[in-house]
Amino acid sequence: MDPATLIPTPDTLPVPWGWFQLLLIITLFLHLILMNVMLGTGIIAFVNHFRAPEDSNPLCHEISRKLPFAIAFTVNFGIAPLLFLQVLYGHFMYTSSVLMANFWISVIALLIAGYYMAYIYNYKYDSLGGSRVFVTGFTVTALLIIGFFMSNNFTMLQRPDSWVRYFDSPNGLLLNLGDPSLFPRYLHFMTAAIAIGGLSIALYYEYFRRKGDKAALRWVQYGCNWFGTATLINIGFGFWFFGSLPDYVVNLKSFNGILIAIFVLTAVVLGVLSIIYSYRGRVMGVLYTALPTVFLMILVRDLVRAAYLKPFFSVSDLTVSPQYSPLFLFLLFFIAGLVLVGWMLKLAWQALDNKEVQS
Ligand code: HEM
Repeated sequence: MDPATLIPTPDTLPVPWGWFQLLLIITLFLHLILMNVMLGTGIIAFVNHFRAPEDSNPLCHEISRKLPFAIAFTVNFGIAPLLFLQVLYGHFMYTSSVLMANFWISVIALLIAGYYMAYIYNYKYDSLGGSRVFVTGFTVTALLIIGFFMSNNFTMLQRPDSWVRYFDSPNGLLLNLGDPSLFPRYLHFMTAAIAIGGLSIALYYEYFRRKGDKAALRWVQYGCNWFGTATLINIGFGFWFFGSLPDYVVNLKSFNGILIAIFVLTAVVLGVLSIIYSYRGRVMGVLYTALPTVFLMILVRDLVRAAYLKPFFSVSDLTVSPQYSPLFLFLLFFIAGLVLVGWMLKLAWQALDNKEVQS
């Protein structure tokens, strides 16, 4: 069967595709950074409780207070890229979501359960004692499974040839397990989350170190160490992932393939620099090299999707029926929303500062 016959007809666009592509990349960057902070700090707290179930340290206590917020931010910043993805690739994404419908819908239940446990971790931190390992373990497992389903959907989306399996198994239980890039891709994302989680810890304590808190230095280096070790391992997963991509995706004869190669090479150089900075405890150096690395990886991820789909579709094929006012309205609310979130975060920092002064 020709898989191209399974691809639904796409809707028309109100503005040229470049707008949606740009917004998709920006909002996905925000979503993934927040996801990394959420999942990475959650895993680090879990490892701490696992190593010493009865002990409590100030870092874990701090993570317990922030984890529910991190989950809320991640989910909210996931909605925007989901909308833009649907505009550009809806006809692929709806299909892959239907093929794995039971797993995809379970994301909601997993999220609610993980979120609930994160609140218990926060509100009952002291009384939980040795049970903290189970509570954090539950939340982290739920988030890891969600991430796995995300990777399945976003890889199945770009492989219409795998959709024909539906006719043998039409029960909404298909995953993309036969794709050799699935596991390296998933591990690459999850290990990046641990690294950026470590970096967020280092940055958080760097703020207090600069305010004169000498005890904070230990946690700055601690966060940097998590970043460095996770990133070192992730270079291995990255090469595994890169090697698992088919030749027609990383084709150096195409412009797309050359861009992928340039971005990957630049990201590797930046990644190595960030590791060096991290082991030296130079947290700002890590920040300035790690964030562009994540951004480049998001660009590569998009170019890889475009290359996979090239035989079937290109975003430039989408027809435009011009209607600019919804876009302007969206941009207005988007910017206002970002300003509002920035203002809320500023207030939260000020409250934190006041608490520090009082204690
Ligand atoms: C809270 C738990 C979540 C985790 C751990 C998580 C994790 C991830 C990961 C790992 C990816 C990259 C997958 C890949 O490409 O292989 C991803 C992408 C994405 N996530 Fe999430 N996510 C979460 C929640 C959400 C929610 C609630 C939404 C939507 C409401 C969302 C929307 C998206 C979208 C749209 C993309 C991909 C966009 C694209 O392919 O361009 N995420 N997420």
